[in-house]
Amino acid sequence: MKMKKAKILTALGLVGSLALGTGSALASGGEVHLKHEHWSFDGYTGSYDQAALRRGLQVYRDVCSACHSLDYVAFRNLSDEGGPSFPEKMMKAIAAEYEMPGIDDEGEPIMRPGASPDYFPSPYANTTQAEAMNGGAMPPDLSLMAKARRDGPNYIFSLLTGYEEEVPHDVEVLEDLNYNPYFPGGQIAMAQPLYGDDVEYADGTEATIEQEARDVAHFLMWAAEPRLEERKTGGRKALLFLIILSGLMFLCYRMVWSDVDH
Ligand code: HEC
Repeated sequence: MKMKKAKILTALGLVGSLALGTGSALASGGEVHLKHEHWSFDGYTGSYDQAALRRGLQVYRDVCSACHSLDYVAFRNLSDEGGPSFPEKMMKAIAAEYEMPGIDDEGEPIMRPGASPDYFPSPYANTTQAEAMNGGAMPPDLSLMAKARRDGPNYIFSLLTGYEEEVPHDVEVLEDLNYNPYFPGGQIAMAQPLYGDDVEYADGTEATIEQEARDVAHFLMWAAEPRLEERKTGGRKALLFLIILSGLMFLCYRMVWSDVDH
């Protein structure tokens, strides 16, 4: 009996370490471990930090939006519960800072201020222009980036804070590329976008490079998974249901076998 128990425990341990092992991402090429930040949305009860989301939006708007689109986020989403939760008036003011294509009363094309149903506009007219302006490398849309890459928020944080001046002697960086060990292959067309003090935070937080990188990664996680909290609540309910069900099953088992002589 003891042996059996030990075996089960070992098996459980194996499964556990496998599950944990798959979570630690490796950048292809070398054995580069991602930096691991503490995220408020981690864990069973995690949720987004509204202040971090607002700061992250600021970093996106002031820095990243010069090159990256955010196709799947509409201005109205900035007021959604569980997101940056801007009051409607503020959200509309943000939207109105953008110029969007529209038509006038005669049907003639015009530019008009952005409104809540509009989506964040792309910085480029088309993909050819996007490539041409970035030495042939297309800056990808950032809406789903945090889910598209393994361990997304930590990857984005590591990438943004991972540029290194010192290139290892065995690496030859190609012209127009930048050394970054966290990018697969170690060379990326994106020049280092953050240095610290790139934004002046509306809430007075000090804008170090780590702070900016953490905030924008937080914001991009929300952009990619705005309903994270609902999903977690659903999971907790399912877990509670299973616990109650197990209890009931156990009672049934006791009742069914109570008449049987042992
Ligand atoms: C000057 C233009 C420019 C700016 C500003 C910029 N990027 Fe990029 N970014 C690029 C280009 C170009 C690529 C494509 C790189 C490649 O394929 O080598 C890229 C790629 C990326 C990637 C994808 C990496 C991958 O795994 O494919 C992420 C994530 C990213 N940028 C995040 C950001 C964030 C966040 C900001 C703002 C803090 C930002 N970028 C600012 C040009 C820019």
